[in-house]
Amino acid sequence: MSTNTTDVSYTANLPWPFAEDQQEFQYSVNVEPARITRKTAAGEWGTRIVDLGGEDYVHIMNERRRILDADPSRVQILPGMMPACWDLLMYYLRDLSLTYPDIMHLEEDGDRVHWKNDVLLTDQVFAVGDENSLPCDPMSFLGREIPDDLLLVKERGGQMYFDAGLVTFAAAWSVTFDAGMSFREIHAPVPGLTRDGVTSRAEQFLMRMPPDKVYRRANWTLSASGSRKLDISLEELPEWGQDIPRLLANKDFGNLHLRIELEHFIRLPMSGAVTFSIRTFMASLAEIRTIPAWREQLARILSATPEDIATYKGIADYRHEAAAWLLHP
Ligand code: HEM
Repeated sequence: MSTNTTDVSYTANLPWPFAEDQQEFQYSVNVEPARITRKTAAGEWGTRIVDLGGEDYVHIMNERRRILDADPSRVQILPGMMPACWDLLMYYLRDLSLTYPDIMHLEEDGDRVHWKNDVLLTDQVFAVGDENSLPCDPMSFLGREIPDDLLLVKERGGQMYFDAGLVTFAAAWSVTFDAGMSFREIHAPVPGLTRDGVTSRAEQFLMRMPPDKVYRRANWTLSASGSRKLDISLEELPEWGQDIPRLLANKDFGNLHLRIELEHFIRLPMSGAVTFSIRTFMASLAEIRTIPAWREQLARILSATPEDIATYKGIADYRHEAAAWLLHP
């Protein structure tokens, strides 16, 4: 695989976040079983938990590693969460070696593990539970192998808490700020989510999730990523805060990006913690405009999204213009 991303299709594996006949958008507990292939107007997605993204994989992993090296605070592990981090690492390494047997290899002999990733050239022997046998903590080790942001949620006193996370591609939030918060606190600012019961239904769903099933949901927003900027976390606000105003001033709507988060929920078998992984996909409006079914549906949904949700997503000021551009460039 090369790091050249200029001739890559970003629509073929895009997890299109809207149902075929969907006309408008509302928040809901939109979860469904994972590992089920979905065909779209441009390709398909969803067969695997981890989508390496073909040519994009090396580019994303270089970006992930650069950010982690520059800002260690993107990894937050609260006291008592290390066993869950090992659980997370082993779950994903096993899944990867089964899903990508040509390039990912795992050998286990009791607690002794040998991991090889032929694309990133990782070759690591370690002992499960022994942090000194890895170059970093187990969550960081995994985060340097796969493109997903990783969050761990644990139940305490009848509520779910965000107690560990490795997040380099947050869409305008901050892992240092949110780590340690309850599920209800995190979602309190999302308009209508608590009032309409979505937060409590989602929390109940996570609490009751059995260990042998994997679920997923998709979320979306728009961002200005002329250079495919994945890191639009609050930590980096000075770097990207002017991107959208600049793009709007130039009426450069083709360079707006639909930013889709494909999230997977897994209850880990040993610790009982719940993972919440977030894989960020992006495609420009210029790319989306080439696919008639998508162009028309996105334009409709951008126009019909309720004002409070549009404001929360940060798209209220320009969504109608973006919709018009999609239909009549
Ligand atoms: C079924 C489960 C879940 C549902 C239905 C849900 C729903 C939502 C929704 C609707 C938003 C607003 C996003 C937007 O419009 O851009 C949101 C944001 C967010 N959610 Fe969830 N969520 C779920 C699970 C989780 C879990 C397990 C975590 C882990 C801690 C989490 C952490 C967050 C964070 C950090 C944000 C961004 C908050 C911000 O903007 O400050 N969510 N969620």
